[in-house]
Amino acid sequence: MSGNYPTYPDLAGKIAVVTGGSRGIGAETARMLARNGVKVAVNGRDQAAIDKVVAQILADGGEAIGVRADTTGSAAIEKMRQEVVQTWGVPHILAVFAGSGGEPAPTLEMSEERWRSVIDANLTATFLVTKSFLPGMVEQKRGSVITMASSAGRLPSPASAPYSAAKAGIIMLSRHLANDLGKFGIRVNCIAPSSILTEKMQQQMPLEQQQQVAKFFPLQRLGQPYDVAATAVFLASDAAAWLTGLTIDVAGGRISL
Ligand SMILES: NC(=O)c1ccc[n+]([C@@H]2O[C@H](COP(=O)([O-])OP(=O)(O)OC[C@H]3O[C@@H](n4cnc5c(N)ncnc54)[C@H](OP(=O)(O)O)[C@@H]3O)[C@@H](O)[C@H]2O)c1
Repeated sequence: MSGNYPTYPDLAGKIAVVTGGSRGIGAETARMLARNGVKVAVNGRDQAAIDKVVAQILADGGEAIGVRADTTGSAAIEKMRQEVVQTWGVPHILAVFAGSGGEPAPTLEMSEERWRSVIDANLTATFLVTKSFLPGMVEQKRGSVITMASSAGRLPSPASAPYSAAKAGIIMLSRHLANDLGKFGIRVNCIAPSSILTEKMQQQMPLEQQQQVAKFFPLQRLGQPYDVAATAVFLASDAAAWLTGLTIDVAGGRISL
């Protein structure tokens, strides 16, 4: 774990759920929240990957539990919610990061089944997770929700069409929720990263290609999971108390709007 995580004292003692917390960006966000004294429920589908992140947090002196659930299914989400609430109470922070399906694919050859599954894995999953957790947060009249879009949801890119459309949908869903729920003290913000060098991306992209892609960014490097986690933890904290309905391009200066 990085020794150099940003700290926000108001986060200590809060409760967070991180969907997609078992790997990549979500795992780094879970570790960073835990370093800030947040109790973190780490979600994913792969129990071994979840256990690894939970073990890292516990070894670092933090508090974490694993909550395995496929976020495309409302019954599994509801079970996860009950587990978190029974263990610690209603979460203050909901990081809805689970998603997949951005691999380039020709749109006109896309099957209906693939289209639906990528929309489900990103947009519908974000809707179902927020639908499950938000009523408790509304009742408590507080909470910070952070959703996960992509630069692919901001501008056309080589990413697959359903992924791009789903991520654009997440941006508007987040703005819609922010507009509806501000009166309950709930903030909803969205992150739109580009080219974050997760373990998976490191495996998929040869070093030479990484160096080529880095040149497209004003800051001349690829993003790190840390860059996205630091944005998420800031948005979760009271330092962002007057921010809601935003989409932040965590994209090394390659901003979309
Ligand atoms: N990396 C980038 O450059 C980049 C850029 C823009 C946006 N994003 C977005 O950032 C998020 C995280 O991406 P990443 O790059 O960190 O990916 P990653 O390393 O592949 O991790 C994806 C995470 O999402 C979880 N997940 C996926 N589908 C799930 C489902 N149906 N139910 C529960 N968990 C599920 C995975 O859990 P298991 O493996 O345990 O199932 C894993 O924890 C995604 O929404 C992605 O679209 C990433």
